[in-house]
Amino acid sequence: MTLNILSVASEAVPLVKTGGLADVVGALPEALAPHDVAMTTLLPGYPAVIAALPKKPKVLHTWQSLLGEPARLLAGKIGAHDLLVVDAPGLFARGGGPYGDATGRDWADNARRFAAFGRAAADVAGGVAKGLAFDLVHAHDWQAGMTLAYQRFAPAGPQLPSVITIHNMAFQGHYGADLFPALGLPPQAMAIDGIEYHGGISFLKAGLAAASRITTVSPTYAREIREPGFGMGLEGLIRARESEVSGIVNGIDTDVWNPASDPALKAAYSAKALGKRSANARALEAEFGLERGDGPLFIVISRLTWQKGMDVLLEAADHLIGIGGRLALLGSGDAALESGFHAAAARHPGRIGVRIGYDEALSHRMLGGGDAILVPSRFEPCGLTQLYGLAYGCVPVVSRTGGLADTVIDANLAARQAGVATGVQFDGVRYQTLADALTRTVSLFRDPAAWRSLQRAGMNADFSWSGSGGAYADLYKSLTVAP
Ligand code: ADP
Ligand code: GLC
Repeated sequence: MTLNILSVASEAVPLVKTGGLADVVGALPEALAPHDVAMTTLLPGYPAVIAALPKKPKVLHTWQSLLGEPARLLAGKIGAHDLLVVDAPGLFARGGGPYGDATGRDWADNARRFAAFGRAAADVAGGVAKGLAFDLVHAHDWQAGMTLAYQRFAPAGPQLPSVITIHNMAFQGHYGADLFPALGLPPQAMAIDGIEYHGGISFLKAGLAAASRITTVSPTYAREIREPGFGMGLEGLIRARESEVSGIVNGIDTDVWNPASDPALKAAYSAKALGKRSANARALEAEFGLERGDGPLFIVISRLTWQKGMDVLLEAADHLIGIGGRLALLGSGDAALESGFHAAAARHPGRIGVRIGYDEALSHRMLGGGDAILVPSRFEPCGLTQLYGLAYGCVPVVSRTGGLADTVIDANLAARQAGVATGVQFDGVRYQTLADALTRTVSLFRDPAAWRSLQRAGMNADFSWSGSGGAYADLYKSLTVAP
């Protein structure tokens, strides 16, 4: 019997993306299809999402007042799969990004926007639209968290089993208690085992407390979030529900991230023809204004934030150059980091190149031509760019945390002797640990046979969705079988 899953999220490729969440939500329907699971994705009606709908989309339901806003449920497609859209112009029809204006400042009414989104999702799960029936609700991150609270506190009780996936504990959707009356929830919801959090309201906690099961995007992160440094205030709840928390590592879309068929590359290549990468390397050097060199060309494709350890990389930039490396960085984020990397590039002309911005095609060219990709994150629920690096023979150099710990095999002696090493890992994100990892990487690079072995082992590893698609399907099935 095919299972029908309602996937509720605030972003999904190819319609709207600010990070890895969108890649994962966009890939899940395809990943689950082989497992007899039909996934429908529910998104807020941002302009880019409305624009992707047919001119006269089917209206499946109309709300006179969705937490005070008129709204409609529209139907469309995302690739070959079903898409539902909450069209509430008062909440979602505005320029800028999904969470804030063009300058990056959060919208002042995000609490109301994502509470209304959750209210709508719970209504859809509850069968408000004729002909739409689901077996399970899968909510992603804090923006979808209220869906599960509305389900749980519905007058008829929670109708469907549910899963919530934490893509990043650092974002929790905290608001003041004064929001409560506007939410339209019964008084018992404002309790310690409900949506209440330190006297206020937490949308992520609301979802975690209500979900039948909690997942996060790697087994290591699922363990880490039991501890204060990673749980960010919710470690107590995670520990209390420990047996219902698990980690399923993200896959990557191997049609899009495949060096043998990537249209963005100057030269296509495979693990058997790594020599062809040099044409991409020359093109990349030209694009970033870099000199040729006999040390590795490190690349970074990242949000420039504290999470990603970019401040420590900036500190280590002179060391990276001193040991013969070069650096090409693409990213955007904290203004101080952006100007810091510009200054580093000015100090090392021809050795460091920086592009501030977001550029998908350039990210492909960097993976196809760079030697090593740096991901020195302080925490990383899964991380996708190290997986792209593995697929492209661009050796990942990562901190040993979250999904980085689970997906990269450090080039220690035993792993190298067994021929299974795929990258370099280091413990603790500090200047010295990163500097040592960079030094180790440069010496591995200077041993061509060792380096080739790292590249090949990474390229031959399987990071497609086939395993993790099955893991989600098994989880859904375990929650939907009749007792
Ligand atoms: P996070 O979601 O925490 O930012 P992930 O590694 O899971 O980290 O996902 C980041 C996604 O965004 C990847 O697909 C990555 O390639 C992409 N990305 C990040 N910054 C840029 C950028 N400046 N240009 C192009 N793609 C980027
Ligand atoms: C978050 C995390 C990242 C993860 C992504 C998709 O943005 O920071 O580690 O890969 O979600 O799950």
